[in-house]
Amino acid sequence: MQTIDPGAGAARRPPRLVKRRGVAAAAASDSIPAMSDVPSEPLSQAGLLAAVQGRASVRRFLAEPVPREDVTAMVELAVRAANAGNAQMWRFVAVDDAATQAAMRRAVDEAIDEMATWPELAGRGKDLQALRVYATFFVEAPLVMAVFGLPYVSRADEMLLAHGVGVADRDRLRARPDLQSIGAAVQLLCTAAHALGYGSCWMTAPVLAAPAIEELLGVRPPAKLVAVVPIGRPAAAVTPTSRRRAAEVLEFR
Ligand SMILES: Cc1cc2nc3c(=O)[nH]c(=O)nc-3n(C[C@H](O)[C@H](O)[C@H](O)COP(=O)(O)O)c2cc1C
Repeated sequence: MQTIDPGAGAARRPPRLVKRRGVAAAAASDSIPAMSDVPSEPLSQAGLLAAVQGRASVRRFLAEPVPREDVTAMVELAVRAANAGNAQMWRFVAVDDAATQAAMRRAVDEAIDEMATWPELAGRGKDLQALRVYATFFVEAPLVMAVFGLPYVSRADEMLLAHGVGVADRDRLRARPDLQSIGAAVQLLCTAAHALGYGSCWMTAPVLAAPAIEELLGVRPPAKLVAVVPIGRPAAAVTPTSRRRAAEVLEFR
C-alpha cells in the first residue's frame, strides 16, 4: 500500500500521493511546470480582478461533469501558492466517482450522528441539523476535491521543539505555516475554478469525518484531510457576498 510521503525532503522532491482505488489519484510529477505549461487557455485569459472579485461560495451545482483537464488546470494554479519553505505540503484527491462521494457523505453523517449522542449537545438538535447541511452538500457536486496536508516542520519549529516548547505554545509562535500554505492553495483553487466557469466551496466541516474519509480514499497517516472543495457548474447565478472595506480592517502604523 502506497503512503503519502511524510514530508521530510518534500521541498526537494514532491512525493506521489495515494494508492489508487477507483478514485482519481493525483500523482505529483518530479518536474514542476512553468506557468506557460498551464494547460488552460481560458485560465490564461481570465482577468485577475474578475476572477477574484467574482468568486463566491457555491453550494448548488449542475450535474455536468468537470473534465479532468480542467481539474488539472485548477490544481496547476493552486500549487503556485506561496508556501512555507516551498515544502508544498498539500496533496489533492479529485473524487468524480458518485459512489465514493456518497460514501464520503455517509462518513460525515455518521460523525454528526455520533456528536448527536454527546450529552453536552442535548437540546442542540437544530444546530446539529444546520451543521449537517453545512457539512454534507458537497455530495451534490460532480467533483469533490479532498485536500490533504503533510507534516511540515521548519527549522524554527525544530528549535522550539528542541527547547521543549509545547504544541499550543509552538502554534502560537508559529501560527501554523502548514495550514496557512494549504489555505493559500485552496483559495487559488477556488479562484481558478471560478475563472473556468465553475462554482466551488471551501469546506472544513466535513473534516469532522477526517479519519473515515482518509480511509475511504486510501490516504494514510501522516497525511491529514484539511478541506473538502465541491466543484461544478453553479445551479444559479453566483453573487459575491459583501466585505468590509479596507478602511475598516486596515490600519497603518
Ligand atoms: C476555512 C474555511 C472553511 C469553510 N468551511 C465551510 C463549510 O464547511 N461549509 C460551508 O458551507 N462553507 C464553508 N466555508 C465558506 C464560507 O462560509 C464562505 O467563504 C464565507 O461565508 C464567505 O462567502 P464567500 O465564499 O461566498 O465569499 C468555509 C470557508 C473557509 C475559508
